Amino acid sequence: MSFLKKEGLDPKVLIALDFADAQSALLFVEGLDPSLCRLKVGKELFAVAGPEFVKSLIKKDFEVFLDLKYHDIPNTVAKAVQAAARMGVWMVNVHALGGRKMMQAAQQAIAELNQPKKPLLIAVTILTSMEQDDLQEIGLSGSPQENVMRLARLAQDSGMDGVVCSAQEAGDLREALGEAFCLVTPGIRPQGSDVNDQKRIMTPKEAMEAGASYLVVGRPITQSVTPLQVLQDINQSIA
Ligand code: C5P
Repeated sequence: MSFLKKEGLDPKVLIALDFADAQSALLFVEGLDPSLCRLKVGKELFAVAGPEFVKSLIKKDFEVFLDLKYHDIPNTVAKAVQAAARMGVWMVNVHALGGRKMMQAAQQAIAELNQPKKPLLIAVTILTSMEQDDLQEIGLSGSPQENVMRLARLAQDSGMDGVVCSAQEAGDLREALGEAFCLVTPGIRPQGSDVNDQKRIMTPKEAMEAGASYLVVGRPITQSVTPLQVLQDINQSIA
């Protein structure tokens, strides 16, 4: 049983470990406490630090969201998701644009795993970096919001546990997809913190009230001189 389960804890903040190497990431993690947050490992850090790094985080009792956004033929994604699950991660994701068969294969692959601890399987709908023009160029008509809703419904219908979405979309998705569907929202900025390159932001409290299940927070915590304090303040604001 995982540390968090044993303790009956479910921290809402997923810290985006956007560091260029394992050493800097580990140094940062030393100052954290697994009862206060989970950790998100993305493509850059995974490419340099790999599965051993992810396993070392899990060994320290952190639960890990492996954010590799798989998008490939069903068989390849199924195998990749299984490999991630065997690492012991808490959450893993795929692109909903990979389609129903790909998502079902991923879901099936996890269901077939012979291990007690299985990751949550989440889909990315439309990347928040894409605007209507970008969607049109790749043959998707309709607004980003319409595409997000259609793909989120498809993801739910294909057995996904939830989607990654902007906090702005969380309200509509929560209403359409029900309480049990997991909504993971980046673009979170505590009151007064630097917006960086994020376009449409919400505070942690606003995002939770809009229906978010988990908040992805990177730079407001990782670039802070007092990361633990920022994390504790966020936790307090949504308690
Ligand atoms: O530093 P910041 O809080 O902006 O980090 C947000 C994290 O969430 C980054 O790892 C970024 O890649 C990720 N993300 C995002 N927007 C999405 C999907 C993922 O910002 N739509």
